[in-house]
Amino acid sequence: MVKADLQELTRSPTAVLGASGGIGQPLSLLLKACPLVDELALYDVVNTPGVTADLSHISSVAKISGYLPKDDGLKHALTGTDIVVIPAGIPRKPGMTRDDLFKINAGIVRDLVEGIAKHCPKAFVLIISNPVNSTVPIAAEVLKAAGVFDAKRLFGVTTLDVVRAETFTQKYTGQKNPAHTKIPVIGGHSGETIVPIFSKASPSFTIPDDKYDDLIKRVQFGGDEVVQAKDGAGSATLSMAYAGYRFAESVIKAAKGEKGIIEPTFIYLPGVVGGEEIAEATGVQFFSTPVELGPNGAEKAINILDGITDKESRLLEACKAGLQGNILKGVDFIKSPV
Ligand code: NAD
Ligand code: LMR
Repeated sequence: MVKADLQELTRSPTAVLGASGGIGQPLSLLLKACPLVDELALYDVVNTPGVTADLSHISSVAKISGYLPKDDGLKHALTGTDIVVIPAGIPRKPGMTRDDLFKINAGIVRDLVEGIAKHCPKAFVLIISNPVNSTVPIAAEVLKAAGVFDAKRLFGVTTLDVVRAETFTQKYTGQKNPAHTKIPVIGGHSGETIVPIFSKASPSFTIPDDKYDDLIKRVQFGGDEVVQAKDGAGSATLSMAYAGYRFAESVIKAAKGEKGIIEPTFIYLPGVVGGEEIAEATGVQFFSTPVELGPNGAEKAINILDGITDKESRLLEACKAGLQGNILKGVDFIKSPV
């Protein structure tokens, strides 16, 4: 039997929480079409019967089921699940920051992760809901309080920042396929906390001096472009579904034994091998950094801070100030609820 067949036979039950939304639907479509996913559970507070019926007609491997909160829907969606992707929560409108979403999304993420702690405590948890800089610390605190936290299994999905960096730099990388340039984007997921490290791109490329600042700003504030263009109808959904799927596929492939998969993702540094060193260098405990994925999730956090340019060091300083506040806000929401 060839390796691909073996991979397809290994189980990877996956759940999407917030599956009826702007991200949830296209993300669920991509997961339904993925030959590596054998079971797909869709959960949302609305519309999952329709989304599930629609996707169920696709002739792919995954057996699909849909749940609403009634009749213990969350429990049924999560029981036996190995990978949980969470795009549940409200998106931005023009003029809002991601932090403005905290009031509503913090409680949504807390409640869903409480369900994970109860029904699938060993699952890989991929958090898309904003503000990621705070919702991931919230998830970590919920899992810690339940005594089931494993930092290797909790990921904030920052892949859209990487995807944007690949796309926006294409005219300088010269790659026909922009995704063929690996560009680490580190820090957090909002404005100045997003730090593209162009100097560590592979293959390397050069950005003209007079274009550098604009390019950095475009990656940092790419989300605003979409929010403004959608003019009140939400934020990035399709590009996020692509990015979320790309990250989920990497987690699944690594879990099945594929070697050498490295993706930037927002993790709790002290709980991942190599992370302590990055926590010490940055002064923050949650941070997006390239991570080597494996059968147990985040096997190793890779420190790319040595040898970054002066400009990148300045970007990192600006990142740290904002990121620390976002992290503490999430931690406090669980530790000292008001
Ligand atoms: P949306 O409003 O279209 O969809 C959100 C879905 O969540 C809705 O279907 C809603 O019913 C559902 N939902 C609400 N409360 C729920 C609960 N308690 N349990 C289950 N489902 C629930 O929004 P969207 O455009 O899909 O965005 C979702 C989130 O993703 C937003 O917070 C947005 O800011 C974030 N986002 C993150 C990134 C990233 O890079 N990490 C990128 C884009 C968007
Ligand atoms: C993005 O980067 O597109 C998302 O975080 C959504 C947003 O609010 O911009």
